[in-house]
Amino acid sequence: MAKRKLQRFADVETFDNVAKPTTEQAMQDSFPLKGKWHKEFFKNENPIVLELACGKGEYTVGLAKNYPDKNFLGVDIKGNRLWHGAKYALENKMNNVGFVRTRIDFITQLFAADEVSEIWITFADPQKERPRKRLTGEMFLNRYRKIMKAGGKINLKSDSDLLYEFTKEMVAEGKLKVEVDSANIYEELLPSLGDAPLVKDLEIKTYYEKRWLSEGKKIKFISFIP
Ligand SMILES: C[S@@+](CC[C@H](N)C(=O)[O-])C[C@H]1O[C@@H](n2cnc3c(N)ncnc32)[C@H](O)[C@@H]1O
Repeated sequence: MAKRKLQRFADVETFDNVAKPTTEQAMQDSFPLKGKWHKEFFKNENPIVLELACGKGEYTVGLAKNYPDKNFLGVDIKGNRLWHGAKYALENKMNNVGFVRTRIDFITQLFAADEVSEIWITFADPQKERPRKRLTGEMFLNRYRKIMKAGGKINLKSDSDLLYEFTKEMVAEGKLKVEVDSANIYEELLPSLGDAPLVKDLEIKTYYEKRWLSEGKKIKFISFIP
């Protein structure tokens, strides 16, 4: 393995803004921060927002700058990726930012009922061959419902027609309330929003988003209440 990647794995072990639940803790439902994120991790009662499949954590950090009165947690299994956001947050003393190195599949073992106020899912793998694994599929929506406050939003930003259309089907089937929906945010949605706060949120660009934009892909966004 490349030396730099190994160094990042080692760094993450020492970062106190990265929670590292073990598989054992998840399987035995014994993760110590479950139900205690406010009190023991952030040391405040501000709302907690998750970014799932956060990669380098651009959204986690970007949203935390937009909303200093909310807490943000990026969740990803790859420590060498979330290293970027975690290091930036440490260096810039961003107390409302943290990361969780884990499989999203364990989400209900890591957060208690009502502990999460909002979820962002940015450029997740559309899981072409494995619909069950899609992060906006029924299995995951049911898990999010167990940890989210009533009325909390799920925000999906994606380049993928498949994941976007699939999510719209899930929303329609479940008769879920849609807050915002656009198949082309830069050409259609953002120009119509004026100076609404969502504009600053949607202008944050991740590593993968930049890649898809350079290939001319249209970026989609749907925000709904699960
Ligand atoms: C296509 S990348 C997108 C990363 C980032 N959001 C971006 O836009 O640059 C998908 C990310 O999801 C993470 N991922 C995929 N499945 C996961 C799972 N079950 N649990 C945790 N992370 C997962 C991968 O490690 C990867 O970093």
